[in-house]
Amino acid sequence: MSRMWVFWIMTVCSLEGKELHVSENLVTTICRLELCWARIWLGYMGRVPDKTKQWNRLEENRIYLHSKSFLLDDSLREHLFGQHIAHSVILGALKAHFREDARPKKALALSLHGLSGTGKTYTSQFIINSLFKKGPKSKYAHFFTGRNHFSMESKTDIYKLDLIDWIRGNVSECDRSLFVFDEVDKMPKGMLDAIKPFLDYHEEINGVDFRKATFIFLSNTGGNLIVEKLLHMWENGTKREDIKLKDFEELIRKGAFNEKGGFQRSETIESNLIDHYVPFLPLEESHVRQCIRAEFRNRGEKFPHEEYIREVLKYLTFGPEPHKLFSNSGCKRISSKVATVMEQILRDMDDNFHNSN
Ligand SMILES: Nc1ncnc2c1ncn2[C@@H]1O[C@H](COP(=O)(O)OP(=O)(O)OP(=O)(O)O)[C@@H](O)[C@H]1O
Ligand SMILES: [Mg+2]
Repeated sequence: MSRMWVFWIMTVCSLEGKELHVSENLVTTICRLELCWARIWLGYMGRVPDKTKQWNRLEENRIYLHSKSFLLDDSLREHLFGQHIAHSVILGALKAHFREDARPKKALALSLHGLSGTGKTYTSQFIINSLFKKGPKSKYAHFFTGRNHFSMESKTDIYKLDLIDWIRGNVSECDRSLFVFDEVDKMPKGMLDAIKPFLDYHEEINGVDFRKATFIFLSNTGGNLIVEKLLHMWENGTKREDIKLKDFEELIRKGAFNEKGGFQRSETIESNLIDHYVPFLPLEESHVRQCIRAEFRNRGEKFPHEEYIREVLKYLTFGPEPHKLFSNSGCKRISSKVATVMEQILRDMDDNFHNSN
């Protein structure tokens, strides 16, 4: 390379008719210049791998996110029973947030509330599977449970710091990261205040923009208030299908704020940083029957006899008194009950076969 410089200088000089003595000094100067130039070049190259890395992350991000993220509509229609409010609110909110041309002013925060077995965790799985090709295995979908990840009250401060680090690190890698917090009511009080800044209307925090991220919180808080209100509406003749989000939102917000758990007395709630409080309604017998049929179908029994369905229903209890409209455990224990009934059916068939021989 140095020789090329010398050759170039000599050519220019000879074109201008000057005589040039290529002294040792000149060569040293040229070599220094060249070294300097090489350092600048290497410095530049040093930045290139970072840029390539960032670009790859974007590409990966694009690959991970389903282009037709609204598979969710079909999945919920087919598999989630009796939750018309949750279906439409969640779908609408995610659609708006994930539009390609969307410029959200803040991260999306949804809080799903309802009694046990009404489909909150189940719905969150459909959300993850519809947004990320690799579903729960995607490194951009994060799932925490109160009991597993944040169980000890004495460690609240450590949990908070870890969570802040984790979220910041992940959103700086992928701005479309999704964070699901299940069993919020099992988390220490105020735990979720740690992430308040990430849900707020900031353009960026320490160089990271959180506005495209999504946070989903699941809990039982407000569940009993939902039942009371629904019963009241039922007694007044309102049809379940006519019930709207606005009938429940304020009620749930108050429930989440006052009842025990990660949102108790929470600044996140006080500062109105949750975009939608989504009610999961208690399930009636007709919905439970749908769950039972679906479970039989999953196990290869496409058209289960009414007798089998009734057999499973015997295991479930309904409340509250006096109307006993709602399943006390929703559809939660149905899978194992159907399995038991199927075993019984097979055993009876076996016995009949042996007896007839
Ligand atoms: N609305 C529903 N439609 C269809 N299946 C349902 C519904 N709700 C619950 N299930 C069935 O019950 C199982 C348990 O439901 P899920 O875990 O979502 O309840 P949950 O609301 O999260 O309860 P918990 O508050 O106890 O965590 C699901 O895997 C699903 O098979
Ligand atoms: Mg759950």
